[in-house]
Amino acid sequence: MWGEREATRARWMVRCRWSPVFAAALVLSCAWCAHAAPSPEDTLFIPGTVPYDTKGNKVEAHGGGMLQANGLYYWVGEGAKYSASIISKSINLYSSPDLATWTFEGAILTGDQIKGMPFPAPYRIERPKILWNAQTQHYVLFFHCDTPEFAYPAVGIARSQNITGPYTWVRVFKPDGEDSYDMTAYVDTDGTGYLIRSVGNVFLGISALTSDFLDTTGICSWGPRGEGPALFRAGDMSYMLMSGLTGWSPNPAALVSTVAPRLCGAWWVRQPNPATTEGGNTTFNSQSTAVLPLKLGDGSTLFIYMGDRWNFQGPGSTYNASYVWLPLLPRSGGQGFQILNGPFKDPNVYTDGRRP
Ligand code: DGJ
Repeated sequence: MWGEREATRARWMVRCRWSPVFAAALVLSCAWCAHAAPSPEDTLFIPGTVPYDTKGNKVEAHGGGMLQANGLYYWVGEGAKYSASIISKSINLYSSPDLATWTFEGAILTGDQIKGMPFPAPYRIERPKILWNAQTQHYVLFFHCDTPEFAYPAVGIARSQNITGPYTWVRVFKPDGEDSYDMTAYVDTDGTGYLIRSVGNVFLGISALTSDFLDTTGICSWGPRGEGPALFRAGDMSYMLMSGLTGWSPNPAALVSTVAPRLCGAWWVRQPNPATTEGGNTTFNSQSTAVLPLKLGDGSTLFIYMGDRWNFQGPGSTYNASYVWLPLLPRSGGQGFQILNGPFKDPNVYTDGRRP
């Protein structure tokens, strides 16, 4: 956990906005302390570790996503898993000025707020994502809502005018009438919102959201079979990263792309496996959950692969999951992207897609 000295450094970093000039003078301390050797001083993240928040508690934000608001990064994710069913009690939110110091903003949704499920509690709460709807001026929270046994695969929605809540329950529904398992939510550069989910665990179905983001408007693009979907746009191309379907066990990632200007109607083309170096057959023992586009001081964008290492202490240890964040760099001399395994250094060393 960072102390006051490091917090001051963090505040300074925000003012510098990852500027490479200032970054050279910065020394990032180890905020990622659990289960790992101390990180080198220029390292942002050691794969397979868990950060501690400013109160000294583990950050519990699994299957999560990242949103920028109020000059901060907000990390939303599933609370710690419990019980033999491997479910979470809440959706947690953390804020950070620099992706290294995390303040717990609270459990923004708990299982007892879920209404309208045709089965009794407890419920499975997975893969939460928050979108900002500029038209309605609301933050809309989406998550995979289900029974512990996956008997009612659906999507839950709540919303708030403040990212930190309180979130008002909206509803649970099966988008476009279909079973909905792993999911993500995404706003494209034109402001259109999308829900992307594993339809019946057969294919990844993409639906545009209504203008208030509270409903879907029909499946308008069909991706391959996959879980842990994560969308991002790089220039004129949109990409969808995903895992295979092997429960809590890791498997090879897959990447598809489209040149379609809008996701509705997009045809997806398979790109090379983004993880081909040693350990790539398990995506470095992780499952994708999101891709964060981080603006660097030189104006370039560093894409950050966010994944979960569900069972890093072996099968059955999902209650103690850790995180894998790695640079997702343009593939050298070819198409697509490549996840660069190893300690995640100061983001500025990757400017313009450069390998350090
Ligand atoms: C893999 C999914 O990605 C997780 O979110 C979770 O549903 C597990 N399967 C359950 O086995």
